[in-house]
Amino acid sequence: MKIVKKNKWNISENLVTPEACFYNRRKFLSSSMIAITSTGFSLKGFPTLARANNFSLSFKNNGKYEVERDITPEEINGKYNNFFEFGSHKQIWKKASKLKLRPWQIIIDGMVENKITIDVDNLIKLMPLEERIYRHRCVEAWSMVVPWVGFEINHLIKLAKPIGKPKFIQFESFLDPSIASGQKQFWYPWPYTESLTYTEAKNELSFMVVGAYGKSLVAQHGGPLRLAVPWKYGFKSIKSIARITFSDKRSETFWESLQPKEYGFWANVNPDFPHPRWSQETERVLGTDKRVPTLIYNGYEEFVSKIYSRMAKNKQLFM
Ligand code: MTE
Repeated sequence: MKIVKKNKWNISENLVTPEACFYNRRKFLSSSMIAITSTGFSLKGFPTLARANNFSLSFKNNGKYEVERDITPEEINGKYNNFFEFGSHKQIWKKASKLKLRPWQIIIDGMVENKITIDVDNLIKLMPLEERIYRHRCVEAWSMVVPWVGFEINHLIKLAKPIGKPKFIQFESFLDPSIASGQKQFWYPWPYTESLTYTEAKNELSFMVVGAYGKSLVAQHGGPLRLAVPWKYGFKSIKSIARITFSDKRSETFWESLQPKEYGFWANVNPDFPHPRWSQETERVLGTDKRVPTLIYNGYEEFVSKIYSRMAKNKQLFM
């Protein structure tokens, strides 16, 4: 993900995560209902996850989306992130931790009956939280597997009560250059924005994330609220969302406005459509020395191919 010379998105492989040990997700999921308190939590047989956590979450595990791959260790992907608001390299986690995650207001507006500004914790209280293990495939050809905690966008749609026929849901991140120094780089069209078609947003996989690894979402992963649309390249999964707008118009999104031929609106994962500057056939699995074949729709074809069945499968759908 690069715009002419201005960022260093494509760091070389040897700068990346060292090989690390994996843990078994089945241990992690040993409980179907996990409650976290304000002082952290512990799971039988999994003591290392117990640590301070400021916000409590209570959720059920949803095993439906489990993937045949190990969960990426938290300490690996928690220190390898894309969050351009804090820099165009991967080691932004310390800088991102300056982002104040509470209080955090979210505006829901546009073609809805309930135009509201809601505190993220009040929103969380209204939503049925679940844990889902999703793959994440970055357009840069690396991937991870994360146990996200969140809720289906469908629940938020019910809360918002759409009016008319919205065709898109637009997402906007925060804007605060005094904390996010990357936002002082004027050539980027801040704030970061993303958008899904209404049909995509209503798909059961479209997930609003408020936690990961059993805890509330840390800043570098896009706390307090981010999107996870695992069949699309990772840049669609916008972090630190401050506004959600229902619309009948498609607005240009952050990366699309910078490089439409490289980071398009659709951005569905497809190994057969190379990025203009590199192949998308394989991906490097974070925390390992493995490269594995990339799957169509990142392995979620059974859930999402129907969305695109009436559309010509041209290059645009996949970049
Ligand atoms: N959201 C915002 N606001 N800013 C960003 O720079 N980067 C995107 C996406 N969401 C980005 C963002 C990209 S390119 C990827 S691959 C994922 O976040 C990375 O998520 P992770 O750091 O949690 O792995």
